[in-house]
Amino acid sequence: MISRLRLVSGFILFIFVLGHFSNHALGLVSLELMNDTLAYTVEPWRTLPGTILIVASLTVHAGLAVWALYSRRSLRMKSWELFQLISGFAIPLLLAAHVLSTRGGYEAFGLNEGYKFQLYAQWIETPYRAVMVFAALLLVWIHSCIGWHYWLRYKRWYNQALPVISGLSILIPTLAVAGIISAGFKVTRLAEDEAWVTRLVRKVNKQGDAYVDFILENEAIIISSIIAIILSVLAIHFGRWVWKQKTSVMKLRYSALELDKPIELKVPRGHTVLEHLRENRISHASVCGGRGRCSTCRIHVEGDPGNLPPLSLEEKNILQRINADPNVRLACQLKVDKDLVVSALLRPNIGSKEALNQSRHKPGEEQEVAILFADIRAFTKMSESQLPYDTAFLLNRYFAAMGKAIEEAGGHLDKFIGDGVMAIFGIDKPLKTGAQEAIMAAKRMSERLEQLNAALLHDIKEPLKIGIGIHSGKAIVGNMGYNKAISLTAIGDVVNTASRLESLNKDLKTQMIVSSKTVQISELDFSGYTPKKVSIRGRADELDVYAMEDASKLELELKTELVV
Ligand code: FES
Repeated sequence: MISRLRLVSGFILFIFVLGHFSNHALGLVSLELMNDTLAYTVEPWRTLPGTILIVASLTVHAGLAVWALYSRRSLRMKSWELFQLISGFAIPLLLAAHVLSTRGGYEAFGLNEGYKFQLYAQWIETPYRAVMVFAALLLVWIHSCIGWHYWLRYKRWYNQALPVISGLSILIPTLAVAGIISAGFKVTRLAEDEAWVTRLVRKVNKQGDAYVDFILENEAIIISSIIAIILSVLAIHFGRWVWKQKTSVMKLRYSALELDKPIELKVPRGHTVLEHLRENRISHASVCGGRGRCSTCRIHVEGDPGNLPPLSLEEKNILQRINADPNVRLACQLKVDKDLVVSALLRPNIGSKEALNQSRHKPGEEQEVAILFADIRAFTKMSESQLPYDTAFLLNRYFAAMGKAIEEAGGHLDKFIGDGVMAIFGIDKPLKTGAQEAIMAAKRMSERLEQLNAALLHDIKEPLKIGIGIHSGKAIVGNMGYNKAISLTAIGDVVNTASRLESLNKDLKTQMIVSSKTVQISELDFSGYTPKKVSIRGRADELDVYAMEDASKLELELKTELVV
């Protein structure tokens, strides 16, 4: 509800601001056009519905800013959040006099003097006011743009539209400021004529000092009220901090890949995990600033998820969206009301785009998967007789072909190692489907290799040959690595065995070796092939496998119905 209110009120204020900016830009054309356009950009906001809309939006938006400052448990925040907070409070301070002189003057004194008077009063009579309004214009615009950016960046279309949006976000304020400057110079020239000035200020002068006093007195009231509110909220924060020092009781144990060992904190009841981490200067991903929109703060919580505080609707929706396990919660939403052991699932500096694509896996989740390894036969020898550029070109073509075959079959492309490829199948599916997809991927890789060799006929001396090894079993699957090199991968005996099956192709002079276990799990019909026993380095027992010279010739028929 709070997010929606902030969005709707922000949207209405943005429309108001956009109207003003467009109007200012017309100063590049003429003062008359600027003034005439006020009928469309300002007058509607002076009607009763317009007034209700703008006053309600301002009140809600400002109230939510105060509430956000009050309700956060820690004043540590990201720089953009700090900017939003400071600019949010600075804008009314800078604009108070301007609003009082325009809307206030209209309501209290019936003055509706338009751009010429406002520019004369600010540009010529009180230039420091013009500087304040300029600063406010820029702050308003940057504040709006940051708000929209942090709201929209979770939408998949946003990145495509970003170049256009960025262009508009620079063009609109530039035209507005240029329009005001141009209009300011025009008024300066007109003000050289004393008769013109006399006519311009006649109506205002009739009010005597009342108009100016009205502005200055009310400006002082607004500014002191805003400062009093900010100081009160900060005093509450200080009081909370003092209280917390006396009442720290809960234990929060936090681990992350970046940490050498888990950190144990003593924390007060009722604050969120993210607030505690921030307060203790522990870096943790929180792209949306803890608003429950991005899911980057997701953590794995040890123990029975039924004992944790219930999910809010917002948290539930976002966790469903990323298909999270029951033990996964959002650090920015989960309040600590008992001792907790949690671990980070994403690295602290992850970006929003990357987070959207991250798997639900925590570091080290054991599950059954099918692993495929492939590499190019005699590639080292081949590359010795080629220029480095040619080798890179060839490898990139090969990786593209193999990567496509794996992804089309439904696998997760884990990594390219030298001229080798590793892929995982069945991460978010039954193992039977994973095994089927792994074998299907091998067939497609073989087919694509034939196409690639045909395409490179005149570029390479000999056609490329590959070896493929497939095995299935339990592995630890999760996001592993360090810093930006963290990715979803698998480790375990099944990985080593698949790799060794791939190497065995050299000895058996085959293209693909798949373990009988994988074939059985897949329920694909391999009755036309004969299994054989092979010895694998590092394994005591021999392994039953199917070895074939050309995986593209595989006739893949299911013994039972397809598993989806
Ligand atoms: S920080 Fe974005 S959802 Fe928690």
